[in-house]
Amino acid sequence: MKENQYVLAIETSCDETAVAIVKNETELVTNIVASQIESHKRFGGVVPEIASRHHIEQMTITLEEALSDAGMTLDDMDAITVTEGPGLVGALLVGVNAAKSIAFSKDKPLVGVHHIAGHIYANRLEKEFEFPLLSLVVSGGHTELVLMREHGSFEIIGETRDDAAGEAYDKVARTLKLPYPGGPQIDRLAQEGEETIDFPRAWLEDGSYDFSFSGLKSAVINRLHKAKQRDEYLKPEDVAASFQASVVDVLSTKAYRAAEEYGVKQMIVAGGVAANKGLRAALKEKFKDSETELLIPPLHLCTDNAAMIAAAGAVAFNQGHRAGWDLNANPGLDLELYGSRKHNSK
Ligand code: KG4
Ligand code: ZN
Repeated sequence: MKENQYVLAIETSCDETAVAIVKNETELVTNIVASQIESHKRFGGVVPEIASRHHIEQMTITLEEALSDAGMTLDDMDAITVTEGPGLVGALLVGVNAAKSIAFSKDKPLVGVHHIAGHIYANRLEKEFEFPLLSLVVSGGHTELVLMREHGSFEIIGETRDDAAGEAYDKVARTLKLPYPGGPQIDRLAQEGEETIDFPRAWLEDGSYDFSFSGLKSAVINRLHKAKQRDEYLKPEDVAASFQASVVDVLSTKAYRAAEEYGVKQMIVAGGVAANKGLRAALKEKFKDSETELLIPPLHLCTDNAAMIAAAGAVAFNQGHRAGWDLNANPGLDLELYGSRKHNSK
């Protein structure tokens, strides 16, 4: 790595248009996020077509804001990195094409980044990684336990068999008539409620690190329907607290068990649900006497941003990864395959 290396990153996989610059792999220079949440709220979720249009409108503005905030120009960048997947194809395409245009016109190397690798690497902006490590990835689209033995290598030891944790939060929130995105709303209500309902915990087979949240989601919806039929009042705070207790119990217990079994040096929490107060507290409690160091990113690095893409992209760049001009949006990009794919030189 040259002495002062600057990597620019673009992230447009869902409903945030984001641009960031990272210096020497781990120093955050600027991190600009233009959120579209307000536009999607009235539909109760992200509308892909609207997301793509917003990305087109926001892309150049966000890029200019990041450069001006950093007091730098595109010529100062050593590499252009971009989320190539997974995500919404139309949304991803805006970022991928912006990155390709910049790299081509400024003759810079181009690197494609996996969105979840980004979520994991958000933690490296705070603390150096020590391998082997495990990452509990909990986002709107993913719930998995990822083992990393070295930089850029990802082994999934457990994953959800149905809904992602964030998805379950959003669906239960919609049933409680809370605005999108529901995760933070349930989290807020849960702090004010009591665990009065004993919702199921999906432990699955002995020793499995897989997850399942659809049964819990149905249990919450059924309980609410039953209450309505009986004219019974359930405090939304208590429903939220009971639902959250089940999710947090399973996530933190499986994460702890995996950390013990694999003897990892660090347990990293990644993705939007890592912002959850209940989950953060439960993990801190579980790992308080453990030899495994627990890393949880600050809130602004939990939800989607481009700093995390720059952090993962800089490592991939320094490992020799290069994308060609045929780089395309890849909505179903596989994490393990991404980590193991051959270097593709420009
Ligand atoms: O990682 P992220 O920003 O986007 C994806 O890559 O999916 O995660 C978004 C998800 C949403 O489902 C949102 O409801 C959830 O993260 N989320 C939360 C909290 N903050 C965001 N879920 C529970 N508690 C929170 N505090
Ligand atoms: Zn994400």
